[in-house]
Amino acid sequence: MKRDLVSILDLKEDLMDIIKLGIEIKKNPKKYSRALDGKSLAMIFEKPSTRTRTSFEVAMTQLGGHALYMSPRDMQLGRGETIEDTAKVLSRYVDAIVYRAFDHGMMIALAKNSSVPVINALDDVEHPAQIVADLMTILEKKGRLKNLKISFIGDGNNVANSLMLGSAIVGADFYIASPKGYEIKEDYVKTAKSIAGDKSRIVITNDPIEAARDADVIYTDVWVSMGEEEEREKRERDFKGYQVNSALVSNAKKDYIFMHCLPAHRGLEVTSDVIDGPNSVVFDEAENRLHAQKAILVKFIG
Ligand code: CP
Ligand code: NVA
Repeated sequence: MKRDLVSILDLKEDLMDIIKLGIEIKKNPKKYSRALDGKSLAMIFEKPSTRTRTSFEVAMTQLGGHALYMSPRDMQLGRGETIEDTAKVLSRYVDAIVYRAFDHGMMIALAKNSSVPVINALDDVEHPAQIVADLMTILEKKGRLKNLKISFIGDGNNVANSLMLGSAIVGADFYIASPKGYEIKEDYVKTAKSIAGDKSRIVITNDPIEAARDADVIYTDVWVSMGEEEEREKRERDFKGYQVNSALVSNAKKDYIFMHCLPAHRGLEVTSDVIDGPNSVVFDEAENRLHAQKAILVKFIG
């Protein structure tokens, strides 16, 4: 049976195994250099990407396989061919499909109609591949995931959804502070709380200091996600009190780490002194996209 990674919940049973495999592949890349010999990966990107695209493509090369980058502009998908037919056709050629989509419904339709694994490379509600790399980074830096306080400051967006669910799966406490009107969706919170049970805490607040207090990890993301550009002015006003700056991080543990999925906007969601400071791990985090995605590809295609 083929297996998809549409939501981080698809890794509910083996998220820790995949994170550990990522760490193992990072240590012994040569051992895996033929793991996906002769395998092909289609990568459909409806939105721009620096990290996700490059790391998946390089991961396939370093595993002995091959990746094809496809923009809907250059595909019949962009001229009205259905996602269902696209799924059925690509499944006859390639061993897996990576998809960055505007709409989670399209992601689900692609997965449903593909006979090969579909891996979500970000959509409007989740970014699971990012979160595998992020949790791997936290494990490397902190030596554990259980009972850490992971705090997200900002928009209850795709990255926040996946990070909250991922934190619940691995048994970390998750706090999120968002402005009114930008809170993480209630159904996601319910799912996270039911996974966390009494093992860890899921806390939703409008108070960034409550979230930052004694945090092990301070995480933020852009205030304006791809596709929300027309809301830029309003969002930049509404998120003003939610900047990750030296005053806010002074509430965190001394050895806290700062994380951001990137791309970052210095002076908006984070100040330069924080993202370029000694507690920031954003470039190790970005590097781990490569290793974590190798682990995902080996598990799903290998
Ligand atoms: N973090 C992330 O997904 O970056 P890209 O948009 O550059 O892929
Ligand atoms: N929330 C951001 C993440 C970018 C990697 C977006 O969707 O644009």
